[in-house]
Amino acid sequence: MVTLQGVVPLDARRFQVDFQCGCSVHPRPDIAIHFNPRFHTTKPHVICNTLYLERWQAEARWPRLGLQRGASFLILFLFGNEEMKVSVNGQHFLHYRYRLPLSRVDTLGIFGDILVEAVGFLNINPFAEGGIEYPVGYEVPCSRALPKGLWPGQVIVLRGLVLPEPKDLTLSLRDQAAHVPVTLRASFADRTLAWIAPWGCKKLISAPFLFYPRRFFEVLLLCQEGGLKLALNGQGLGATGVHRQVLEQLRELRISGSVQLYCVHC
Ligand code: GAL
Repeated sequence: MVTLQGVVPLDARRFQVDFQCGCSVHPRPDIAIHFNPRFHTTKPHVICNTLYLERWQAEARWPRLGLQRGASFLILFLFGNEEMKVSVNGQHFLHYRYRLPLSRVDTLGIFGDILVEAVGFLNINPFAEGGIEYPVGYEVPCSRALPKGLWPGQVIVLRGLVLPEPKDLTLSLRDQAAHVPVTLRASFADRTLAWIAPWGCKKLISAPFLFYPRRFFEVLLLCQEGGLKLALNGQGLGATGVHRQVLEQLRELRISGSVQLYCVHC
């Protein structure tokens, strides 16, 4: 899934998002999927098409436009086996059957009248084949059972969107007796990320603060012999020591704070 967040300028005529097979300029690369909102005509609409050997194929046209001049948007491009689905601001908008193999696409081109705020590449569920539905946001606080505790090699994956005026994000790992031996907390007020010990002692993680309002994030916790390794948005941020017996006795993962979650895997 590719996410695109941005704003349509007030005087926008058109923009395009191209899933390209290469990035050469001459000759033009094939474009497997050209997504092209047009605002300047009397009836604003969206065109999708494929450019093959420098020739546009038959245009597919959608008479509506879920986007407005002057407004911000979140577009999700969701790639299934046979077709791409597009949602705009949480509403399904169109689907487009592939005319060129998706495996040829290696470049994302964004051109025209658009202010790009963020682009995200998200694998909705790397553990299940063919996740072809739009992700459903989970409300927080939320909780997941860990019936067998954690053991070396196990991975916890959390993906979501930070809310507009965030305060904090807390991940806590609890055992049967509701003790909380491991807590990870991101605090937006002072922009710090820290491990919190059960007795409240804070161990700051010294790394740039990678959470931003209205941006996607991915937290990965990898259980290893004697501790948990942390990665945020693909960047390794060290480990915290936790005894094997403590890891085995964990029974619950709890997540709370200013986020909407799309994937919780443990
Ligand atoms: C053409 C336009 C191209 C592309 C194409 C899609 O008319 O010049 O930029 O949008 O349509 O079919």
